[in-house]
Formats: sequence, structure tokens, C-alpha cells
Amino acid sequence: MIWLIGNKGMLGTELSLLLEQNNIPFIGTDREVDITDPAALRDFASSHPVNWIINCAAYTAVDKAEDDEVACRLLNTSGPANIAAAARDKGARLIHISTDYVFDGTGNRPYTEEDATCPTGVYGSTKRDGELAVIENNPHFYIIRTAWLYGKHGNNFVHTMLRLMNEREEIKVVHDQYGSPTWAFDLAQVIISLMQQVDGTHNIPCGIYHYTGEGTCTWFEFAQAIYAEGKSLNLLTKPCTVKPCTSAEYPAKVKRPAYSVLDKTKTKSIMRIIIPAWNDSLRSFLQGHDNS
Ligand SMILES: NC(=O)c1ccc[n+]([C@@H]2O[C@H](COP(=O)([O-])OP(=O)(O)OC[C@H]3O[C@@H](n4cnc5c(N)ncnc54)[C@H](OP(=O)(O)O)[C@@H]3O)[C@@H](O)[C@H]2O)c1
Repeated sequence: MIWLIGNKGMLGTELSLLLEQNNIPFIGTDREVDITDPAALRDFASSHPVNWIINCAAYTAVDKAEDDEVACRLLNTSGPANIAAAARDKGARLIHISTDYVFDGTGNRPYTEEDATCPTGVYGSTKRDGELAVIENNPHFYIIRTAWLYGKHGNNFVHTMLRLMNEREEIKVVHDQYGSPTWAFDLAQVIISLMQQVDGTHNIPCGIYHYTGEGTCTWFEFAQAIYAEGKSLNLLTKPCTVKPCTSAEYPAKVKRPAYSVLDKTKTKSIMRIIIPAWNDSLRSFLQGHDNS
């Protein structure tokens, strides 16, 4: 059975729905089984027939983390260490989700899984240390790094843009940060496919894998695409001008990576998947958007 940790978050909710739709047995937990409490994890694991654990729980408030390092580290580093140890003791395989923030974003070509990590803020550094803790504590691990995640559930860039576009005459969006938008539904499908392949005959070596939507854009270009699709699908009630700006115009506590494109060559070849273009996924997502 699969134990989905963090089942009420953005990715966790998407995975829950997909597992249900596919009639795959799983049990989901969120804050009620606290990942910072090793005994709670052990107790839960010992009373359920778990052979896969997926960890979607995390501290994801990137700016807030700068003033809240202890709590962030507890969730993003100690939590994964505890989960990995519980998985090891149970003999379960672990899928742990990580982030492009493990890199500093000063590169000029897509980051591979082998590139040295170099996080700049608290969130990135606690997530990188969480990866190391998983590797140290459980030999049967898959770490999937993703980026620019959006989906139906929870706050994310697409929801924020649609709301602002419906409220304002004009919005400015940064045009000097590059990345790859990722629909949580696509990532959830890949996670399920990974488990099915490993449970079947296909040998997928443990290790780190990168997964995002295919292609690269800036946040401004992402916003432009949201506007164009939103308009054609009647999700917008009035015109709004989307203008480019620089990161310097948007001071934030944490410097965002200027270039956070992840190389997915390894993932595509080993997991035998075709990754949808980010703008195709955005269209599919918005086609199912109900404005609620
Ligand atoms: N969002 C992105 O753009 C993005 C990008 C790259 C990578 N990622 C990674 O992708 C993964 C999923 O992200 P997400 O956006 O789906 O996260 P999310 O929506 O913030 O969900 C995290 C879940 O963990 C729960 N949680 C908090 N503390 C917990 C605890 N002590 N024990 C158990 N559960 C706890 C949260 O509950 P509360 O809501 O009550 O706190 C929430 O339901 C994370 O590893 C994240 O680092 C995300």
C-alpha cells in the first residue's frame, strides 16, 4: 500500500485524486501525522501495510522561511530524515519531492541531476539538506526535483494571475527569471508511473530525477500565456495589460533563481516518458478550470 504524506497540499491533493481515479490503494495523511515526530511516523508505519511512501509535505513559504528558519528546517530537513528512516525500517520505497531552489540559478544551461547544489536561501538550503537526509537514511529512494508548480488546489501563480487580471487594468510581471511551469497533475501522473514501473518489470535505479513541464519561459511569458488562454476560455471578465518588469522592481526577501531550468534527459530516458510542453499543460489545466 502507498502512504501519501502531505495529502492536503497542492501536489498531495492532485495525487490523491489520481490514485483514487486509478483505483490504486493508498492512505493519505497530513498534519495529523506530524513528520517532525519520528515516533508518530513509526507508529503509523507499523500499523499499516506500507510498501511505498510519497512525501509531499514541506515548508513551502519561500520568503517567510527567511525569518522562520528553525520551523522550515524541521519540516524540510528533519521531516524527510524521519520519513526516510521510517521507510527504511518498514522496508518501503520512498519518493521525496524537492526543488530547483537547491541551485543558485546563476547557470546558463539546464541543471542536471549531477550538477553541484548551491542553494542561496533558507528554503533552498533546508530542501537540499532534506535531500541529503533522504539519501543517508534510505537506500530505496527516489528524489524528484520540480519547479514552478501549479494546480487546482492551493495558492499558485496561475490562480494569482487570473485573480489579478480580473481585478486590475494592468499588471507587471518579471521578465528576467527563466524556468519551466509544471502542472501538478502531470507530475502526479509521473509519480504513479514510476511506482507502477518499479513494481512491474522495469528497473528504475534509485536516485535524483528532474521533472518539470517541457520548454522554458520567463514569468512574464507564463503570465502572457495565462492571459491569452484565460481570454479564449472566457475565464477573464475584462481586458488587462500584462507588462514586463525586472526583478529589481519586485524586491523580495529571497533572491529568486534567475535561471532555474532543470535538464530532464535522464528522467525521460530512464522513466520512458514523454513530457508535455508547459503551454499545452497550461491549456489543459485552464480548460478544466471552473473559476471557483
Ligand atoms: N509549490 C511549488 O511551486 C514547488 C516548486 C518546486 C518544488 N516544490 C516541492 O513540491 C512539494 C509539494 O509542494 P506543494 O506546493 O504541494 O506544498 P504545499 O501545498 O505547501 O503542501 C504541503 C503540505 O504539507 C503539510 N504539512 C505542513 N506541516 C506538516 C507536518 N508537520 N506534518 C505533515 N504535514 C505537514 C501542509 O499543511 P499546511 O498547509 O496546514 O501547512 C500541506 O498540506 C514540496 O516538497 C515542495 O518543496 C513545490
